Amino acid sequence: MRRIAVVAMFVLVVGVAAFYARGGGDAKPLPGEPLRAAAKSRGIELGTAVRGDVLATNRAYRQIVAAQFSTVTPENEMKWALVEPDRGDLEFGPADDIVKRARDAGQKIRGHTLVWHAQLPGWLNDLGAGELRQATREHIRAVVEHFSEQVGVWDVVNEPITDRGGLRRSVFLRRLGEGYIEDAFRTARTADADAKLYINEIGAEGIGPKSNRLYEVVRGLKARGAPIDGVGFQAHSNLDGLPGDFVANMQRFKALGLDVAITEADVALKLPASEADLRAQAGVYTRIVRACEAVRCASLTFWGFTDGRSWIPETQPGQGAATLLDGDLRPKPAFGAVQAALGG
Ligand code: XIL
Repeated sequence: MRRIAVVAMFVLVVGVAAFYARGGGDAKPLPGEPLRAAAKSRGIELGTAVRGDVLATNRAYRQIVAAQFSTVTPENEMKWALVEPDRGDLEFGPADDIVKRARDAGQKIRGHTLVWHAQLPGWLNDLGAGELRQATREHIRAVVEHFSEQVGVWDVVNEPITDRGGLRRSVFLRRLGEGYIEDAFRTARTADADAKLYINEIGAEGIGPKSNRLYEVVRGLKARGAPIDGVGFQAHSNLDGLPGDFVANMQRFKALGLDVAITEADVALKLPASEADLRAQAGVYTRIVRACEAVRCASLTFWGFTDGRSWIPETQPGQGAATLLDGDLRPKPAFGAVQAALGG
């Protein structure tokens, strides 16, 4: 008898462990109106960056993404190094998986990103100007065409400006010159006549050298008839908050006839975060939502929604706790603040 009990216990423990290892647990329901519903009544698309591997294996994570957000951005899976690790060898599997889940959840997808200086495959460095121009056009065409049925918005060019207001000396600028930006937009348009084509920038929220240069670049593109539809402000932030002239800055881009979006919002804290920090963080999140509403932004996307899966602690040691939910998917003050700001 004892033997049977021990074996039964063993089977139970292994079974439960396997269940959780596969991420089988349900999410604890979050209080109040789902963010996506609250945002909808305000006419805002509310989004999050998602990680394909976590989405595939963690049920609670998946449930929250589906319940709370109306748009998703693959955090890495559409980047050049992942999609085209060898020239012409296109690997869409991980991104396709995210896209399929998004469609099942009735979500839109922001495509991120086609031309960026980071997360590039090594083979690009070996190309001369002519080859690089060709490879870049082929890459843009292949990726945009592959997703044209599902992806309605692309970050075509990401982070082209330096903090001091110069053009970033990426491999594209060095080999192809400033025209690479316009070329990227024109190529994307040939691959998808309808997608909204965005330029996306980090740290350009306030009016200053960086956003002024971004403005000049965008105005030039418009003046030459290039197919640009929108400007994304990443809005990575901390307790300093976003600059007071963020709304005024977005307004001037809107006045060029463009959409504006907040594309990667998070609010990094110094670890360990105190209760007071978490309350202050909620205030910054409230102001981000209000800024988006004030300019009638096309969408507001957070760069992840749980502290357990956020790029901040992974890339900025000593910083973290930047998102709406803690590492156990429980709401932080920031969650309630966003909900309240959306009127939910
Ligand atoms: C980050 C991802 O979150 C990380 O997982 C990855 O290691 C590096 O890239 N600006 C962008 C995003 O446009 O693509 C970056 O995402 C964060 C900064």
